[in-house]
Amino acid sequence: MKKPMNAEILKAKERLDAGKLVGMPTETVYGLAARIDLLKAIEQIFLVKERPFFDPLIVHVSSIEQAKTVTTGWGKAAQALADAFWPGPLTIVLPRASTVNEMITSGLPTVGIRMPAHPMAQELLHAVGVPLAAPSANKFGRTSPTSSAHVKTEFKNDDVFILEGGDCQIGIESTVLLLKEENEKAFFSILRKGHVVRTEIEEVLKKAQISFEYLEVVSKKESPGHMKHHYMPAIPLILVKTNLSEAQIISYAEKALNEMPDVVEDVKIQKPQSKIQKIIELKLSHDPALASRELYSSMRKSAESGADLIYFKMKPAHSNEHWEGIFDRLTKAASLIV
Ligand code: TXA
Ligand code: MG
Repeated sequence: MKKPMNAEILKAKERLDAGKLVGMPTETVYGLAARIDLLKAIEQIFLVKERPFFDPLIVHVSSIEQAKTVTTGWGKAAQALADAFWPGPLTIVLPRASTVNEMITSGLPTVGIRMPAHPMAQELLHAVGVPLAAPSANKFGRTSPTSSAHVKTEFKNDDVFILEGGDCQIGIESTVLLLKEENEKAFFSILRKGHVVRTEIEEVLKKAQISFEYLEVVSKKESPGHMKHHYMPAIPLILVKTNLSEAQIISYAEKALNEMPDVVEDVKIQKPQSKIQKIIELKLSHDPALASRELYSSMRKSAESGADLIYFKMKPAHSNEHWEGIFDRLTKAASLIV
């Protein structure tokens, strides 16, 4: 017998069916979801998020069967990767099918597809029966939400129904993989680093006996959402790669931040409101899986601590592949690197 639908999931489904937006928990970060077949709702995602229309949305699916309905290019490599990593934090960018409106893909011939692992995301996707487009549920350029409270703060003045799904277990956004399959060969690039890393992807392709080539991303066109600054907390963050004392960090930051432009790539650069008096160190666990889970909420907490500046010290232990996704976010969140 089919399990009766949870009341919250039912409410979320009704909202989506009515063309409204839902804050959807996933294992990576919370998403701001709309049905892919309701264009007014899709447009609303961009408006509410204040996101430029050139930055494409990820399409979330409930199954591999459903994934095949949004792409014309499902091949052996896509199958092997989905078998290995779905449901989970991997987005696969494949040729777009006409079922996906170009507003979702920002006019690109490709579409990013992901099957999320969070049980509430799965329940919601099954209940709605149509794929859901969802970017991270934050205003454009700001820190991604890893709890429902973050989403509430972000959209307190907007009409968004938020599902309570607890804290996100992965904590940083999915790995975005661009995949092309031609003449029995797979070509892939990593457009955004995340929990699933390149060596794991290569292992899966090898095991499936698929010949492949890794391509470094060169063109910005392939990864339109990739900007230098993103995920910025409300006070400046400094990434410290050298051996500086707190006093040295303060004197360097005061000078350097004042010399910086106010806005870079449409994102306002955070600068201290007055003289820097209190600074706070962002501390993360040594295990990168835990560190990524803590990253965004620790960044938010530090920003709300009353400090004028946050700093994070890079250590030799951070040089392994599983830290790359975290450093990608820290680098984009930083106003300065020293
Ligand atoms: O973990 C995640 O991926 C979360 C959860 C909610 O699923 N979503 C997320 O979405 O982080 P968003 O919109 O904040 O970031 C998606 C990024 C975009 O910036 C864009 O660059 C890239 O994925 N992307 C989406 N579709 C693409 C496409 N067709 N080609 C290239 N890049 C694409
Ligand atoms: Mg985002």
